[in-house]
Amino acid sequence: MRNGVIAIHRDGTVALMNDEAYRIFGLTRRAGDLGRLFTDVLRERPAIIRVLSGAFELSHLPNRAELRMRDLDRVIGYTLSQVVDDDGTSIGAAMFFKDLTLVEQREESERLRNRLASLGEMAAGIAHELKNPLAGIEVMAGLLRRQVPDSKDAQSLLADILSEAKLANAIVVEMLEFVRPVRLQVERTDVADVLQQAVTMAESKTSRGAVNVSVDVEPGLAIECDDHQLSQVFTNLIANAFEALEGKGHLAITAVSKLVEADPAFAASPSPAPTPMVIVEVADDGPGLPVEVTDKIFDPFFTTKPQGSGLGLAIVRKIVDAHDGRIDVSSTPGVGTRFRVTLPVSSASGWFK
Ligand SMILES: Nc1ncnc2c1ncn2[C@@H]1O[C@H](COP(=O)(O)OP(=O)(O)OP(=O)(O)O)[C@@H](O)[C@H]1O
Ligand SMILES: [Mg+2]
Repeated sequence: MRNGVIAIHRDGTVALMNDEAYRIFGLTRRAGDLGRLFTDVLRERPAIIRVLSGAFELSHLPNRAELRMRDLDRVIGYTLSQVVDDDGTSIGAAMFFKDLTLVEQREESERLRNRLASLGEMAAGIAHELKNPLAGIEVMAGLLRRQVPDSKDAQSLLADILSEAKLANAIVVEMLEFVRPVRLQVERTDVADVLQQAVTMAESKTSRGAVNVSVDVEPGLAIECDDHQLSQVFTNLIANAFEALEGKGHLAITAVSKLVEADPAFAASPSPAPTPMVIVEVADDGPGLPVEVTDKIFDPFFTTKPQGSGLGLAIVRKIVDAHDGRIDVSSTPGVGTRFRVTLPVSSASGWFK
């Protein structure tokens, strides 16, 4: 992985800034940048200006500190040091840094995978054990129902027992489905079709009420994916939005294609071709996510709903992962929630994940 370097003179003018630094900061090199004040060159990146400004003021300069650049959605790891001349007088400062965004994303999905694996194993064990007694309850309640055809009260109680047992069984099936490895059957698929289907399925899963839904898809947008699984992704996201909106408000679904630059620090060749991606956003103007909840929503079994299983978003994440995609969420309490799914147009994925 290459490093970004920026060096400044004691008077605040830029002495050096390499290409990687421009890339990481999302800036373009302009003639005459060298020799200009760093506060001017980095005008659009106030967070970096703050770090560099501390170079001559702090007694202990940060070694291996991390900085999150929110505007760029990027994380950098940096070291700041003073440059001294032979007499020990400080004549400038240098900042060395790396783009940690991808490292962080990889670590995050690795962590999630491990957590899912152990939770999944446990859940599969429990689900498996529960299946037989549940089937027993269903069968025996059915038998009993036939033995007391004339008792209305008993019939109604038995009907309740049966429906509760069915519900428990549905949860067990969902749990088993969740822990099973994702097997992709990749086909070229029309994105608009998948989204339309997902809206219909979400409507049958939960009540839409008077929620206004707009679907806006770039014409002809297609993607190589497992259409059933992908439609499950959007069904879950849309159902969550309906549930959050509680029958009123707006749900905006958009899909566009975008060429995404590969990160040269990770690419095999020095100037990799940009990858075509599809970006689907599902945005509602519901209550939003409380800050303390945002980190947990993708965890299996995390739910804030009395009837929720908390598996919806965990399954979403798993399927998106299997497609080599990513999912991000941004939410402002009181304003709404936006889920963004980014998927490669052509799938290089294997069949098993
Ligand atoms: N659009 C949204 N707006 C507000 N909160 C949301 C939204 N989507 C998800 N959440 C929160 O994330 C939690 C987890 O969602 P997830 O879909 O995983 O489970 P669930 O909807 O609670 O249950 P299930 O989907 O299994 O029926 C929800 O309980 C809810 O608190
Ligand atoms: Mg859900």
